[in-house]
Amino acid sequence: MINFLLSLIQNPQKGFDPVPAKHVDQYFEEAYNGKRFNEKITTKLKEFTIFKGKKILDLGAGPGQYTKYFVDQGAETHYHDISKGYLQLFKEKFPDLKFTSSLDYLDHFQGKYDLIFNNVCFNYCMDDSKFVKKVAQGLHPNGIYFGVLGNENVFNKELSRNVFLLKTQFLLNDILGIKIGHPFTGRNRIKRLFTKKYFEILALEDFGVNTLVVVKKKEV
Ligand SMILES: C[S@@+](CC[C@H](N)C(=O)[O-])C[C@H]1O[C@@H](n2cnc3c(N)ncnc32)[C@H](O)[C@@H]1O
Repeated sequence: MINFLLSLIQNPQKGFDPVPAKHVDQYFEEAYNGKRFNEKITTKLKEFTIFKGKKILDLGAGPGQYTKYFVDQGAETHYHDISKGYLQLFKEKFPDLKFTSSLDYLDHFQGKYDLIFNNVCFNYCMDDSKFVKKVAQGLHPNGIYFGVLGNENVFNKELSRNVFLLKTQFLLNDILGIKIGHPFTGRNRIKRLFTKKYFEILALEDFGVNTLVVVKKKEV
């Protein structure tokens, strides 16, 4: 609710960019010096889908390193992110790359896809339940959602003064569905969110410090 209210006054299409320019520059560089491209991810993805000829949404694409990969594999790829800073750098780096793009909140992506790829940014959606329903609507029957989600492991690495706040945000979202800020998502909550009504769960497992969730949209 709070994230939704903020979105009414902070519009990415009118220039709002929540990601500080310094962070954009640093993360972008890391994306192309190998630190932010994980071959374990692309290897895992290949267990569930091929890329050639597929319609793929890179949701929360940031520096676009996976968008580039999907295009190179022959997929019809759409880049979606909130940050114009990332998109601008990406277009400057690959001026001839064939892809489409949109700038908006994660929850406001458009279109229907064979694969929705959502790496380490699920927590930025405004409302987890509505976002997952939107994902269901955004997939063709038998389409795949592949998400790598932050989880409780964040408590182990954050400075102790932040832990109380992070845990409060996490538990409020986890138990009551009240989302303040951008808390990560526990495994049990993931199970509740990706309901059997819409999805078949293909994988729900630890993936490094994160949680991997792969689901297939049901035919009906
Ligand atoms: C950790 S980065 C991950 C980027 C990319 N998926 C990757 O694999 O490197 C998080 C992404 O979420 C995006 N994002 C979406 N909504 C956001 C919000 N409300 N606040 C901050 N970042 C947001 C950022 O622009 C950024 O691209």
